Amino acid sequence: MRVVSSFSEARSAATEAYHRSNGGEGLAAIGLVPTMGFLHEGHLSLISRARRECRVVTMSHYVNPRQFNVSSDFDRYPRSFERDSQLAAEAGVDVLFAPPTSEMYEPTESTSIRPGRVARTMEGAGRPGHFEGVALVVAKLLAGLGAQRAYFGRKDAQQLTMIRRMARDLRFPIEIVGCPTIRESDGLALSSRNVLMSAQEREAALDISRGLWAAALAAEGGERSAEDLCHAVTAGGDGVAWEYVELADQDDASLLDALDRPSFLAAAASVGEVRLIDNVFFDMGGGHLAVDRGILLQSPSLLYR
Ligand code: PAF
Repeated sequence: MRVVSSFSEARSAATEAYHRSNGGEGLAAIGLVPTMGFLHEGHLSLISRARRECRVVTMSHYVNPRQFNVSSDFDRYPRSFERDSQLAAEAGVDVLFAPPTSEMYEPTESTSIRPGRVARTMEGAGRPGHFEGVALVVAKLLAGLGAQRAYFGRKDAQQLTMIRRMARDLRFPIEIVGCPTIRESDGLALSSRNVLMSAQEREAALDISRGLWAAALAAEGGERSAEDLCHAVTAGGDGVAWEYVELADQDDASLLDALDRPSFLAAAASVGEVRLIDNVFFDMGGGHLAVDRGILLQSPSLLYR
């Protein structure tokens, strides 16, 4: 694995890795896994999917200050580059792109991206400026690293919708691939922020996944009212401070009254100082509802190692 800090080095290292790679009939040339580091099995699942589908895997590692609307959240965001680079190498990353902020942003730059309608609800409403920050950094990664496929977790459901929309609107020649949420064995969705919770807070946080699963079960039993599904999420627990629970369209993140199309049921809640988001996806294959609850780990996450 090559560790590089500039866009041009990342592109050259990926091209060299591509020429060194053998075979790979039908594979994409370069797959990109954008991350903010402090890797867990969710990130490793994206790397492993990219590894299967692409000849070269580039992973970006950058805690993007522009997407944090609260500066204390940026300061507290867990970081460990040594740990991450070892995990990335073991997982089969070819190029680890870890830019300093001066490489990502120039003091004189003036372009911004307004993701518009997809970014107005839920996370967009509660975290002003967040999606503008995500859109700008992701646009730079998509434009600057030469990948044909980029991998994002379904855990950040609205982010995935926003990035898909942006890539389509701006005609980026890249396929955006959404991958299932990875959960701890008791259901807690993996997030780098989980390490900031005490054992008691972690226990309380389980209200979120339990609530979402209760709603998923209701949907499988035929419930289609968004109001009732959202109520099913919060009914089970008040150990967390709920911020929102909404049913949203997978295509444009607009809020829905009824489960009648591919959608996701998303929740945001705080436990102590830690803000968490989670969701279940409702896919519609041949008119039938299929719930994507994510994938459960069999053993404790490497977050705690
Ligand atoms: O999902 C994340 O980790 C970040 O929002 C991303 C996509 C790497 C952009 O900074």
